[in-house]
Amino acid sequence: MAGLLALLAARLQPAFDGVAPGADPVLRPSSQAGVDFQANGALPLAKRLGRPAAEVAAEIVAGGDLGDVCAKVEASAKGFINLTLADEWLAGTVAALAADPRLGRSTAGRPLTVVVDYSAPNVAKEMHAGHVRTTIIGDALCRLLGDAGHRVIRENHVGDWGTQFGMLIEYLVDAGEAGSEELSVGDLDGFYRQARAAFDGSEEFRERSRRRVVALQSGDPETMRLWHQLVDQSMEYFAAVYRRLGVLLQPEDVVGESFYNDLLPGVVADLEAKGLLVESEGARCVFPAGFTNRDGDPLPLIVQKSDGGYNYATTDLAALRDRFGRLGADRALYVVGAPQALHFEMVFAVGRAAGWVPAGKEPVHVAFGSMLGTDRKMFRTRAGDTVKLAELVDEAVQRAASAVAAKNPELPADEARLVAEDVGIGALKYADLSTDRTRDYVFDWDRMLAFEGNTAPYLQYAHARIRSIFRRAGRDADRVLASAGAVAAGGALSLAEPEERALAVAVLGFDTAVAATLESYSPHKLCSYLFDLAGTFTAFYERCPVLRADDPALRESRLLLSACAAAVLEAGLGLLGIAAPARM
Ligand code: ARG
Repeated sequence: MAGLLALLAARLQPAFDGVAPGADPVLRPSSQAGVDFQANGALPLAKRLGRPAAEVAAEIVAGGDLGDVCAKVEASAKGFINLTLADEWLAGTVAALAADPRLGRSTAGRPLTVVVDYSAPNVAKEMHAGHVRTTIIGDALCRLLGDAGHRVIRENHVGDWGTQFGMLIEYLVDAGEAGSEELSVGDLDGFYRQARAAFDGSEEFRERSRRRVVALQSGDPETMRLWHQLVDQSMEYFAAVYRRLGVLLQPEDVVGESFYNDLLPGVVADLEAKGLLVESEGARCVFPAGFTNRDGDPLPLIVQKSDGGYNYATTDLAALRDRFGRLGADRALYVVGAPQALHFEMVFAVGRAAGWVPAGKEPVHVAFGSMLGTDRKMFRTRAGDTVKLAELVDEAVQRAASAVAAKNPELPADEARLVAEDVGIGALKYADLSTDRTRDYVFDWDRMLAFEGNTAPYLQYAHARIRSIFRRAGRDADRVLASAGAVAAGGALSLAEPEERALAVAVLGFDTAVAATLESYSPHKLCSYLFDLAGTFTAFYERCPVLRADDPALRESRLLLSACAAAVLEAGLGLLGIAAPARM
């Protein structure tokens, strides 16, 4: 089933085309009483044609083909086209949604192969606030893309290579190989700091570290063994964080910087063969067209330093080439912070110039803003340190446990523990996902854990409350969904109350919301939709008694609408990687 908005727009399109080919109907939900949607496209069109808007709107209404869908299609004096859905059509479409395991979500007409580069922490370093965002946003996008039928290849581009490994390996040797204290307790930053201190404190250590870098680069077996040990310990730690957070990333998704080592000389050679390489101050660079610095001079992307070493950009070029080449990607998403925008623009430009990105294929930097504290400065601990993701998760669950206990003291302890996990982690994820990713986002415990407002606990609670209606009725919500056809066919879906209609229209908006979310890789759009849906349900529930409805048919009808709302809330949260407990 196509999205409601898309369906109405498609039906109006020929009439718009009749006035001016390709004119956008500009379809929106309407807030006017008795009107479900409005098409605003006649206004700009009339202006463009120098005709009265009401006349253009009337012409479109006359040519429109909405007879079966709408009970009323009217042009207003100002030129708006007001649409009121027909009850039978609405009832039938809700029944179809209820009976559809996908709840009306369409699947991609042409499934794409999409590589999603996300999380990408650095070995022997803590995951910081930026990694929190990429992990949560990237994971939601993987779920949404997979759900839409695309082939998703997750790639965790971990920082597991570079000259700092000379120092880290030497420190590992000194600290005792069984794994230093810090590593074994997951204090990666502690380990890194100690290594740095040793490096800064002794020339002898620095010299050993430099030799170690050379040994690492030449693949010395003993050095590689130590390097693997470092990488493995960090990866185990990251994997534990991923498991706790409930993200999809698996060990086999790790395709770190080291993976591309052997491909780097080929990358540079190919750039040279294509005449793109320029020698500048001993370094080998590419000057992609259109990039200049402040003084207007061409901006280089350095791919090989004067000492022969490769860098972050070379590795990303190799990754780009690998993704569109070997992996056959149609799209490659890079869920990385906004500060790296220029880096990716240049990497993509060079990749295109080198012919590594086939025509019609697309690398996309899915950028996000910074995580700020409530003081609007970079998010840090009170002591001024970067915040560990693992500790954020612990604190979120702890705080959620108190919030849940206050809200529902009756919940048995075992269940309360599980619910706290779902609510805490859900709150952490949702706070991130519900803000437009391109903006900075303010990390605020109290706000994200509130049962009011656009938060995970609010949505989870709305969902659990609907489930409780079914528990009280001794009914199974899924069975009610399955019998939806009968309810609707018997003409028993009641849409007489405006709140009933509004809820029916709201659940039918699921597909449109998911499509809009994927269109711009913006999970906050799905969040806003779910928030509105929960609000619509609340208004419905306040106004329309469900279990206390006198007429059994009315009760069935309202149970069906409620079951749809619960199912959409649960599925929508699921697409964001957030659990919807049945009770809380
Ligand atoms: N490891 C990098 C960091 O922590 C992020 C890597 C992002 N992905 C990429 N292909 N460059 O900042």
